Amino acid sequence: MLQEENDLLTRTGPGTPCGELMRRYWQPAALSEELPRGGPPIPVRLFSEDLVLFRDEASRPGLLGLHCSHRGADLSYGRLEDGGLRCIYHGWLYDVHGRCLEQPGEPVGSTFHERIHHVAYPCQEVGGIIYTYMGPGAPLPLPPYEFIRVPVEYRTNAKVFQDDNYLQGNEGNFDPVHLSFLHQLRSDDPESAQSLNAECRSPLIEAEETDYGVRIYCVRQVHGGRNYVRITNFVLPNLCAVSGTADGYQTLWHVPIDDTHHWRYMIWFSRSTTHPNRYFTRSDEMTEGHRLVRSKSNRYLQDRASMQTEAYAGLGTNFLPHDTCVTEGAGPILDRTREHLGSTDNGIIAARRRLIDAIRAVQAGQEPPGVVRDPNVRWDPEVMARSDVLLPSSVDWRDYWKNELLRAQLATVMPG
Ligand code: FES
Ligand SMILES: [Fe+2]
Repeated sequence: MLQEENDLLTRTGPGTPCGELMRRYWQPAALSEELPRGGPPIPVRLFSEDLVLFRDEASRPGLLGLHCSHRGADLSYGRLEDGGLRCIYHGWLYDVHGRCLEQPGEPVGSTFHERIHHVAYPCQEVGGIIYTYMGPGAPLPLPPYEFIRVPVEYRTNAKVFQDDNYLQGNEGNFDPVHLSFLHQLRSDDPESAQSLNAECRSPLIEAEETDYGVRIYCVRQVHGGRNYVRITNFVLPNLCAVSGTADGYQTLWHVPIDDTHHWRYMIWFSRSTTHPNRYFTRSDEMTEGHRLVRSKSNRYLQDRASMQTEAYAGLGTNFLPHDTCVTEGAGPILDRTREHLGSTDNGIIAARRRLIDAIRAVQAGQEPPGVVRDPNVRWDPEVMARSDVLLPSSVDWRDYWKNELLRAQLATVMPG
């Protein structure tokens, strides 16, 4: 990869080509639990922009530029009153749309406030997540992805700070060969996913372009004349769908804070069970501010003795610190000019190509894939992630998958 291409894919600040692409999609701004009713405004940095997220008295979430349009005070210290957020410096009052409702220091009858257009991004709160649209024009409807629409009772949401660029975080998700190494844990059950991943360490990786991004098949030939099939997905522009069964799957959404830090939002949903519990919410692995206990500063608490007995990486049994160690370890922005990609990197290569094409589409004045503004245009992305499919090698896993899609749609739990 050329340096220009790496810059193109990894820079997401205002006015950058990839930043322009990202801003065409709804993006998570916070978990609802970070902004309880009646709670204080919170500063939020997103795509290299400093913002403040608050709820007005009607509980509507609003996302405004952090610095007051008057003389730049930090609005996250503001007062929540009179239908909006009031700056504590001179009392200017803003509503969720960025309108300046009052400037109490100006003469009575002044219309100066009407000429102020403060930075404001529309928000929608669905399934315990506050999403924002930071792009041009009117916001499009939220996309019909199941992981967005599934009601809050059928999901678990979490987020974790990552000390690196968003793209290397996301690329780890559709790199299924690393399950045979990084995440290997001791298992005595020859039928467990761990054992099957260990049994075949050089799987076939096949990537298929879809309307939402890329579907990646990972096929391992295992004992008993069977194929262990894993299906993961790159979803444009900065997320993925992985680790699932017929009942649901995990979505990992890598949202840039700036070019060298990001949030990894984690959504697990179930079609049949309320409050599905997942390992990523394990409290002993987390500390203040949605951060992992294991970090670069403590060398991820690697225990080299345990590498012989318990875990390949010596980083405990939770996959999240494993992924964090290797992706952060590649540096603040992975230098893709120095990589050597092999056949098992087919999914990553296909995802990068799709991302570059989407950036080029926006540069050419077109809408990128999945940005459907017309509510009359039907767009029905068929996302499904599986990590539990074991088939006799005589069965064509591509056909099986198509039937599975149909079955999954019938079983879907959707509001309304
Ligand atoms: S800086 Fe905010 S009102 Fe003056
Ligand atoms: Fe991983």
